[in-house]
Order: sequence, then C-alpha cells, then structure tokens
Amino acid sequence: MKVVAATANLNKLREMREILTGFEIISEGEAGFLEEVEETGSTFLENALLKARVVSKATGLPALADDSGLCVEALHGAPGIYSARYAQKFAPADWAAGNRAFLLHEMEGVVDRRAHFACAVALVFPNGREITAEGSTHGEILLAERGESGFGYDPLFYSFELQKSFAEAAEEEKNAVSHRGRALRALAELL
Ligand code: IMP
Repeated sequence: MKVVAATANLNKLREMREILTGFEIISEGEAGFLEEVEETGSTFLENALLKARVVSKATGLPALADDSGLCVEALHGAPGIYSARYAQKFAPADWAAGNRAFLLHEMEGVVDRRAHFACAVALVFPNGREITAEGSTHGEILLAERGESGFGYDPLFYSFELQKSFAEAAEEEKNAVSHRGRALRALAELL
C-alpha cells in the first residue's frame, strides 16, 4: 500500500519505513505537500489525527501521521505533547540538543527519574476511513547523555527492556521495543 507520511521529521520517516516494511511510504515533499500543520490538539492522538486528515485531504492519498513525545513522571508528564519545542525559549538554534540540556536542567537533583515515550499513529484514507493505534515504552532519564544513534531524547532515555540508552541501541533493537514500533505494528495488525 502506498501512503504518505504526514511528518516533516526525517527521523520519524526513517523509522516508519524500517518498521512498516510492507508499505511504500513516501514523504510529504514527494507527495507535493509543503505546509506545516499546526498541532492544536491536547493529546498525542488528537494531533496525529489532525496531521493525517490534513495531509490525506491535500494529497488524495492515505496519510500516516505520528505524534509522540517523552513523559517524565517527576515532571507530571512533561514535556509530553510539547517535546519537540521543550526548550523553545532557551535554545532556538539546535532544538534536539537544547531540549536535552533543558531536560537535564529540570531533572537536577531529582531522584525518581522514571519516564516513558508515548506514540499515537493515525492512518487516514481519502474516503474518510480512519485507523489509530498507540504504543509506549518505559525507562528512566540518565544523568548524562549516552550513545550516538537515534534522535531527539534518545541519548538520555535508558530503556528498561534494552538495558541501555536508545542512542546506544541498534535501529532494529530500538524499533523492537519503542513506542513508535509498538504503535505502528498495532496499526498494521488492525489493517
Ligand atoms: P512531534 O512532532 O510533536 O510528534 O514531536 C515529537 C518529539 O518528541 C520529537 O521532536 C522528539 O523530541 C521527541 N521524540 C518522539 N519520539 C522520539 C524517539 O523515538 N526518540 C527520541 N525523541 C523522540
């Protein structure tokens, strides 16, 4: 099945392609969609649906969106749906590194470092059919970055299942237990 990935995040696109191997996943750009969709929802699921609906309508193709983020217990679920722009006020130049630095700052002296990644995915068809699924993965926030792979908060997320940070894991290892891997495989099952 040919679907357009409703995301401008190339890391998400890469992981979607690795996980959903039975699909032909083209980028928004390849489908001629160049706008940025504003994420006005209050949950991961609302935002995923919002993005997929806009892109499916504009391109006439089934659109697959992912909305995801890191939820830290001691921070009452923050940064959550605001994960991509957590350090907006402080680090306009390099989001990912700035977000990680800000998270470490917020976690200074915090003993309970439990956290989970959450992901909602939505596949919206031009005929209005909508399929959604969610996934999560648990771990804790490290005291310092570890590893070079992955993206976003991966160097700070120690996976309980992998016993290492997501940035120390091979792509297949991360995808096997990740929030995105779980959400996308659940979506494929539903199809
Ligand atoms: P979204 O585009 O609003 O869904 O932003 C998701 C943000 O959450 C990303 O920019 C990352 O900061 C973070 N995030 C989501 N999934 C992952 C992951 O697998 N690894 C690391 N960070 C992630």
